[in-house]
Amino acid sequence: MFNVAEIRKDFPMLNGKTMSGHPLSYLDNGATTLKPQCVIDAVNYFYEEITANAHRGDYELSMKVDKLYEQTRDVVAKFINCDRREVAFTSGTTFGINQVAYGYVRTHLKKGDVILITDAEHASNVLPWFRLAEEIGVVIEYIPLSENGRLTVENFRSAMHEKVKFVAFAAVGNVLGYKAPVKEICAIAHEYGAKVMIDGAQSVPHNVTDVKDLDCDFLTFSAHKMCGPSGMGVMYGKYELLQETEPLLLGGGANARFNSCGEVILKEVPYKFEAGTQNIEGIIGMKAAIEYLMKVGMENIAAHEKELRTYLVNELSKLDNVILYNPDGDTGIVTFNVKDIFSQDAAGYLSSQGVAVRSGNHCAKILVEFLGTDDTIRCSMYFYNTKEDVDALVEAVRTCTIENCIGIFF
Ligand SMILES: Cc1ncc(COP(=O)(O)O)c(C=O)c1O
Repeated sequence: MFNVAEIRKDFPMLNGKTMSGHPLSYLDNGATTLKPQCVIDAVNYFYEEITANAHRGDYELSMKVDKLYEQTRDVVAKFINCDRREVAFTSGTTFGINQVAYGYVRTHLKKGDVILITDAEHASNVLPWFRLAEEIGVVIEYIPLSENGRLTVENFRSAMHEKVKFVAFAAVGNVLGYKAPVKEICAIAHEYGAKVMIDGAQSVPHNVTDVKDLDCDFLTFSAHKMCGPSGMGVMYGKYELLQETEPLLLGGGANARFNSCGEVILKEVPYKFEAGTQNIEGIIGMKAAIEYLMKVGMENIAAHEKELRTYLVNELSKLDNVILYNPDGDTGIVTFNVKDIFSQDAAGYLSSQGVAVRSGNHCAKILVEFLGTDDTIRCSMYFYNTKEDVDALVEAVRTCTIENCIGIFF
């Protein structure tokens, strides 16, 4: 049974924490999420009880670490429905995308081949492709967004052609929060023989993810956006594609053998992607986070966020000082501006009222051309948020005037 009041007790940051003397309304979950006690305990357990390296020691402590490390892979595999060998640990979405770009795309595409992305992508899903364009002469093309900023099947189909060899887009955009039709896009791309990488940073934490059903070729996501530790994430890839993917980093743990002649035999997938001592506490913490999310239920999480979004959009629509950019959104991301007030000033005022939101371009610098504004305020909700958080935001927006913003500093 989903009970937000009970859930909130699991999060120390929600128990009595205040900001600017007000109860904390944390509505910046697109940036990072709060951590439940079980994740904090899991990380502390590593520090306090079982500190040892992974896959390197032949003693009890190290073997305990090995076990948890590999159990995490099983938990991730269950969470996104794949084979455990298809789960490689990374430092986060950004690293995962770079790994796919330089490890797979760089060696499989050639000059003149096209990579399709959208105007709405986060910097992490733009800049690696730009670099490949410079380095190997691939061409970046953009799938046109619909009038309100969606990636639609029709628009994707119209952008697709024989030269497109790789498609990369966010399953949920980090500014407008629209859900992309991932399954349909993968099917169309595959008809043309193109591979698809999904940036799952804003989707995996909030929805059921089934990579087999979606039939995506790669998927990357970050633990810190789903109640887990920072500096931790996952790159999923179809097994045969991971076999063809070169690791970005080489070092201890990733090789089976090497000799003085420079001959190197790498370990099997996924271990060849995990060179060097990994973020072990991050891995153990991510296991706790995913188990926690599965206990809460991904369907419950999505449904709760949808309910809050409807309520928030409804309340904001009653105010005449608000410009809403995604009133028809699908997720807990609601993006707006307070009329005549610079978004960062407005966010500063909201902070003075206990409300944490993000302002600016949200690392999606191409989308600003589409939105016609450089800066917006993004409220991004998660399953521990309440109608009271929404009320606090709406009240702060209502009273957000130029006079009230004067003297507000970060
Ligand atoms: C859609 C999207 N992609 C990629 C990233 C980068 O994630 P990370 O900083 O965890 O690597 C973010 C972070 O906000 C994001 O929202």
